[in-house]
Amino acid sequence: MRTIWLENDGAAIGIIDQTLLPHRFATARLTTLDDAVRAIVTMQVRGAPLIGAAAAYGLWLALHADASDENLERAYADLLAARPTAINLKWALDQMLAAVRNRPRAERLAAALKRANEISEEDVAINLAIGRHGLKLIEAAAARKKGDRVNILTHCNAGFLATVDWGTATAPIYLAHDKGVAVHVFADETRPRNQGASLTAWELGHHGVPHTVIPDNTGGHLMQHGMVDMVIVGTDRVTAQGDVCNKIGTYLKALAAGDNKVPFYVALPSPTIDFSVSDGLGEIPIEQREAGEVATMTGKSKDGRIETVQIIPDGSDVANYAFDVTPARLITGLITERGVIGANHAALAAAFPERATNNAKVAS
Ligand code: MRU
Repeated sequence: MRTIWLENDGAAIGIIDQTLLPHRFATARLTTLDDAVRAIVTMQVRGAPLIGAAAAYGLWLALHADASDENLERAYADLLAARPTAINLKWALDQMLAAVRNRPRAERLAAALKRANEISEEDVAINLAIGRHGLKLIEAAAARKKGDRVNILTHCNAGFLATVDWGTATAPIYLAHDKGVAVHVFADETRPRNQGASLTAWELGHHGVPHTVIPDNTGGHLMQHGMVDMVIVGTDRVTAQGDVCNKIGTYLKALAAGDNKVPFYVALPSPTIDFSVSDGLGEIPIEQREAGEVATMTGKSKDGRIETVQIIPDGSDVANYAFDVTPARLITGLITERGVIGANHAALAAAFPERATNNAKVAS
């Protein structure tokens, strides 16, 4: 199943409510701009590509109510402010704006739905292409190991739940598993929201992919003992120089991988590249989320109730930075829909010249 869809009555968008996983599977219906903004802010939908698709449909929902220029601008601004770090959100909104802005009001609704549907379909096709290129890396590792299972460490959830389908980091893993290559995934739990423990483990389990959930601090130890053959993570924004912004903790995994000569790959769809940013540390806004995510844990009690408990002393301060930046020098390769390329400007611009040129024009 997909993570986002047009409802049968053609008047609303359906989503999987990811805040309830892994203990409850439920879908939700979005009928207004405010529903879409809330779904992104509360992380009912999350993950860079899915946020982009949800924002695109959100703009369409806004035009349902009012197709005026003023409402278009308001919807664009509200959706853009929903989450700051993943550039796919802005990319999708700019695509939508270009598709509807210069049309008469009467045509805007149909044009918006068409472009939102295309953005969704494109995401699925891109991820499948990422999967095919990444599959070759896994097959090469399997050949080196003479058929022994390939152990892949991943962080956060860059799986099908973070996209419209397939996932980015997981697409090569799903293809390898489906082809009979023995793969096993170490899923970092990914505090504070536990996207690895809650979402990656859930979706890998449903697909039958062998996996082990590990506390966030375990990866370095596993790498020192030769238990990780490669790392594959997703990303929320890649700079023109190939630096990678992703879920907090990714940088530490890259450092450990570098120290242990474990290949560190980043899987990314081209809408995640931001050619307008060259200094990842200085220019990418890092989302800071509410303290409650760090101060509490939510889970299932023995009698099956979902409960939230406080895990820090009353009165302690917390910091909740949601993302960090991994410098390009720590990255073995970028797995894109156009092949596996180096994490540097020349390789990115050669693979995606139309994006690199467009952004240069915007900047000048
Ligand atoms: O805060 P989230 O859950 O939206 O963060 C998601 C991640 O960091 C993913 O790893 C990233 O978006 C890549 S998704 C294909």
